[in-house]
Amino acid sequence: MSVSGLFEPLPLIHGKPMRNRFMLAPLTNQQSEYDGSASKYDIDWMEQVARGGYALAQTAATFVEPSGIAFERQLGIYSDDLLPGLTDMADALREGDTLSAVQLHHAGHRARPELGGHPSPASGYTVPGYRALTTEEVQRIRDSFIEAAERAERAGFDGIAAHGAFGWILSEFMSPLLNDRTDQYGGSPENRARLTLEVLEGIRRECGPDFQIGWRLSVERYGLQLEELVEITADILDRELIDYLDLALWESKQIVQEGRYCGKTMVSVFAELPRKRVALGVAGKIYTAERAGQLLDEGADFILVARAGILQRDFPLQVQANHAYERVRTPVPAQHLRNGGLSERFINHMRGWPAFVQRGSL
Ligand SMILES: Cc1cc2nc3c(=O)[nH]c(=O)nc-3n(C[C@H](O)[C@H](O)[C@H](O)COP(=O)(O)O)c2cc1C
Repeated sequence: MSVSGLFEPLPLIHGKPMRNRFMLAPLTNQQSEYDGSASKYDIDWMEQVARGGYALAQTAATFVEPSGIAFERQLGIYSDDLLPGLTDMADALREGDTLSAVQLHHAGHRARPELGGHPSPASGYTVPGYRALTTEEVQRIRDSFIEAAERAERAGFDGIAAHGAFGWILSEFMSPLLNDRTDQYGGSPENRARLTLEVLEGIRRECGPDFQIGWRLSVERYGLQLEELVEITADILDRELIDYLDLALWESKQIVQEGRYCGKTMVSVFAELPRKRVALGVAGKIYTAERAGQLLDEGADFILVARAGILQRDFPLQVQANHAYERVRTPVPAQHLRNGGLSERFINHMRGWPAFVQRGSL
């Protein structure tokens, strides 16, 4: 399939189809208010994205209960008080004919007490001074994910994406390194996957028939075991528990270095699993039209755009107009981002990413 395949529609199991193969990846940008309510900058960013040609856009990681906050000025969805701003964000995307999903997040053991969070580890040894969550506390956090999804639905979002990547709580529980529990949420791979499964099942049960569920999975670090994750994913796909899997790689060309899948591309490991009607998306250094098109050839159904989308708000439209499109080189002067419409808060967040904003540029 060539680049033009990126502009074919993609049906999802629930709700409306994606009108093309571009999804905006979740992007934390620290531009919300301190209590997690959406700021005018959040809404403005969604308006920019909505003009950019994406079929579906995810919000930044959005904390589902106050204990789970990880970033200052992180977007929140832990209370109905936050509904007005969230509703404006959902409205902005709908007006651009862009499907919307809130990325539901709890930081688990990496929650930040100085921001009002409470480190919530699966194990007693992960964070000095903090005991493991009790079974009841795990179930409370599960319920917070489900209530947050219902809230997202009430705000008018088309769906949610459960953040199961990068060592945050759902990924933490999957890890045999970070999870030494002896209750039903620890031990066997099946038990370590239970929190994720109960979150996904609960959201499917409580939200409407058109509500879309995504699940973001990462496969590296935090003691995660690829072979186990493949088995768990195969089960989730077989049960069609989600509308789409978002495979969060840092490099979409990644080759597996050890174990059963050694030598294969990571994308092929997941693309070769029977996935019934579930769509497969891939993130990781998708900077050119050519690479985006190649990923469809490698078995992905859609691609997720992150850093290239910050540099150029309408990445999909650029690709449509120019099948040889490449993103601008980084680092860029701060003014480049400002000219594109990024807020100072967002630009300051990007100063923390390696080699993205030119050092010292005002
Ligand atoms: C500024 C920034 C913020 C990010 N925030 C999130 C986030 O909130 N949730 C998440 O799952 N991933 C987050 N990521 C990871 C991206 O969604 C994406 O998976 C990763 O950047 C790889 O894609 P890229 O190479 O196209 O940037 C973030 C990445 C960047 C650069």
